[in-house]
Amino acid sequence: MAGLLGQYGLSPVTIKETSTFADRDIPRLRHSLHDAPMAENRISLDRLVPGVFVRLELDWHEHDFLNANFVIQNQGQIEELRRLGVTEIAYDPKRSTSRPLPAKAAAPAPAAPAGPREDPLARARRERKLKDRRHRIQRSEEGYRRSMDRVKHLMTHLGSQGPESVREAGELVNESVDAMLADQESVLHLMSTTAKAENLYFHALNVMVLSLILGRKAGLNSEQMRQLGLGALFHDVGKARIPYAVCNKETPLTRAEEDFFRQHPSYGVEMAAQMGLNDPGAVAVIRQHHEHLDGSGYPRGLKTDAITVPARIVAIVNAYDELCNQRDAERSSTPHEALSQLYRKKGNWYDDRLLAQFVQVMGVYPPGTIAVLSNERIGMVLATENNQRCLRPPMILYDPDVPKESAPILEPGDDPDIVVVQTLRPLQLSEEVFDYLNPQTRLSYYFDAGNRNRPA
Ligand SMILES: [Fe+2]
Repeated sequence: MAGLLGQYGLSPVTIKETSTFADRDIPRLRHSLHDAPMAENRISLDRLVPGVFVRLELDWHEHDFLNANFVIQNQGQIEELRRLGVTEIAYDPKRSTSRPLPAKAAAPAPAAPAGPREDPLARARRERKLKDRRHRIQRSEEGYRRSMDRVKHLMTHLGSQGPESVREAGELVNESVDAMLADQESVLHLMSTTAKAENLYFHALNVMVLSLILGRKAGLNSEQMRQLGLGALFHDVGKARIPYAVCNKETPLTRAEEDFFRQHPSYGVEMAAQMGLNDPGAVAVIRQHHEHLDGSGYPRGLKTDAITVPARIVAIVNAYDELCNQRDAERSSTPHEALSQLYRKKGNWYDDRLLAQFVQVMGVYPPGTIAVLSNERIGMVLATENNQRCLRPPMILYDPDVPKESAPILEPGDDPDIVVVQTLRPLQLSEEVFDYLNPQTRLSYYFDAGNRNRPA
């Protein structure tokens, strides 16, 4: 491995796991879905039938089964396992009421291909998938740019045309909610961003998009989703009343400055009233987005049931975005680290169930994560599929033999034995790999809801 990694400008010493979750919470980050702790009792999925007692080797947040050990009840459960990326599974003959199907007779080993040429059909299939992925990314980027223009416009006119801005925001939120609810499988993509001086807009749109993705996962109805989206978009509007020097201070705030800053949710509520934003659900998000379940938040120190579900969602997403996107990029957490840090607060600050659902929608390796794979390639996660619970999200790969414009993309279904073994910080990359993968200094996400009802 050292030789290959050397060509990326890395050595085994310079690569280290950037962070891990606490043991009790952690998904088995390096766990291959195909590890075989019970080799004598493992079967391929095509041998599975109802009545077989199985043991899942996935973590609790990677699947929706009630227990990890259970008797297969129907074909639907087998299909669900297949969707999870499981190809082999451990089973217990003693607790099974049916026997697995017999193994297929061993087929003779296929003849070695005559040459290195790829099967034309397989190649065509791969190229079609690649084209489709690039098309989806491009479509998301276009939707993102249009939405960002609308956010900039409405935010810059808040003071002079408050009601008009609220109306425009309502339209953007409604279109986004409709698109997301129309396509439950819509994908979350990493966006490339270039502007640096517009953090406020990036943050507002990012929090809105991720909150809606989490809200959908949490089962919010369309009305709750609209309140959530509007509250998320305007959650920090009260910062307009906090002096720039306080909001952007490089050194720690004084006690007086901290007290002042902690009023921004209350200022936001006042501003919402002036703007004509009267939706109580959205206003609650603005008021409560810094409250913690244990009462340690601000401005009111509210606890558990006093904090609305949409406000709990925005609290998680807001914290994630702020961890990933510090003004000093070197202090930013990687997406993987940010999830880890949120987990350390689990049960104290954030809603347990919502946090687990956030990991489900973002993936253990959220878009923007840079990782070394078990085949010694280096890549960056591009997207998170809504229904994807495996540990191998779509990734763009570094390949010195291919121009970066045509960089290979590894899809979750490609070669399931390849798994992530380590995550890296962008600064650990050589200049060449950095330029190739182009990790973003600001992590922004947008969804691709296909052609149906996507935001104009
Ligand atoms: Fe805030």
